[in-house]
Amino acid sequence: MSTKTVLICQNTTCRKAGAAKVLAAFQTEFSPNATIQGSACLGQCGNGPMVLVMPDQVWYSRVHPDEVPTLVQQHLRRGQQVKALLYPKYHPS
Ligand code: FES
Repeated sequence: MSTKTVLICQNTTCRKAGAAKVLAAFQTEFSPNATIQGSACLGQCGNGPMVLVMPDQVWYSRVHPDEVPTLVQQHLRRGQQVKALLYPKYHPS
């Protein structure tokens, strides 16, 4: 299984939307083969909390802490995107 890095924006706008709790939720979930990192602004302010999974280049927007277990189970463990949380700007349906 390849190693993934999950970037969770911790800059001002995303923090106001609850990004610290999203980061904490990722840190409490066991994510094999994934590195969890708070990041600087991802350039998508106003759509946060923003989460970017690399090297997949999959973006998730307006992520709520309650949705983190689903992201870990489905994307990080099974390699399947969580369609309901995809950022529409980069992943138009
Ligand atoms: S503050 Fe999170 S994308 Fe800019």
